[in-house]
Amino acid sequence: MNKTDKIYIAGHKGMVGSAIVRKLQQEGYTNLVLRTSKELDLTNQQAVIDFFKAEKPEYVFLAAAKVGGIEANNTYRAQFLYENLQIQSNVIHQSYVYKVKKLLFLASSCIYPKLAPQPIKESYLLTGELEPTNEPYAIAKIAGIKLCESYFKQYGCNFISVMPTNLYGPNDTYDLKNSHVLPALLRKFHEAEKNKSTSVEVWGSGTPKREFLHVNDLANACYHLMQTYQGTVSVNIGTGKDISIKDLALLIQKIVGYKGVINWNTSKPDGTPRKLLDVSLIHQLGWKHTIELEEGIRAVYKEAFK
Ligand SMILES: NC(=O)c1ccc[n+]([C@@H]2O[C@H](COP(=O)([O-])OP(=O)(O)OC[C@H]3O[C@@H](n4cnc5c(N)ncnc54)[C@H](OP(=O)(O)O)[C@@H]3O)[C@@H](O)[C@H]2O)c1
Repeated sequence: MNKTDKIYIAGHKGMVGSAIVRKLQQEGYTNLVLRTSKELDLTNQQAVIDFFKAEKPEYVFLAAAKVGGIEANNTYRAQFLYENLQIQSNVIHQSYVYKVKKLLFLASSCIYPKLAPQPIKESYLLTGELEPTNEPYAIAKIAGIKLCESYFKQYGCNFISVMPTNLYGPNDTYDLKNSHVLPALLRKFHEAEKNKSTSVEVWGSGTPKREFLHVNDLANACYHLMQTYQGTVSVNIGTGKDISIKDLALLIQKIVGYKGVINWNTSKPDGTPRKLLDVSLIHQLGWKHTIELEEGIRAVYKEAFK
């Protein structure tokens, strides 16, 4: 990519899209095309056709999607499937029609089989049953990966996809109904500290282990792959390290400076015992994360709550 090439970042207001915009701006790219969902509803095929015809972007980062927590995924199953299929089909097909030089599609590690062996290799995709609560979302994302792969194989389009692990960082969601575990814990401990509560309730036993990546690291990885990677394998992006929810809660408690006690509500489900990506491929491709978890959470806490 040259610094003046026209680059469309779909979903630039979101956590991932905004991090990609920051990265491109830091690198000196000046010709970024950005549209909110109000300005361009990507589920509207005609609107997407008109947009590509008028703008003719040369590169596309596809970070627009309908995303949400377990409850939203499970409740709005039809919307998660339909809207994501529409968004990605419209953008990927018009990128083919208008000869986009390269497209990067954001998939997600939550679409691997529920009981995949650990750490999860790229080759485990489609080898087992999906987590039922987010199956419609996963099916849509798998279709997006297969679109990139098929347009690559049939038409020679340089469309790639990536599988990021759990992300955190600027522009995350902190409302407890829709947030993921890390921002939810930050909010809970922050409020407990502010309200001088004597205890904080955390769901589950604390034993499951999860991996977390700062979204700035993800943006660096996407930028790196956009410059260097060509292929049909959807590349895992993570740190290759995991932490138990218990240790994560203790770390966040320390960062927030909360002195009360943690009550583990073991009547709530734990979910999968472990979810860790095998990141050997992206390491071989020349990228490694740089932001360690404690440093990343400290920065996010300062930015979002202070
Ligand atoms: N967050 C994570 O932990 C995580 C982990 C792995 C993968 N990912 C993937 O990364 C991608 C982005 O996630 P995110 O966390 O950045 O989500 P997000 O913060 O909710 O952002 C999603 C973006 O999509 C846009 N969008 C949604 N529906 C649209 C529509 N109909 N037309 C146009 N734009 C639409 C929204 O635009 P407006 O703001 O303008 O409405 C928003 O900017 C997703 O594909 C997700 O699967 C995320």
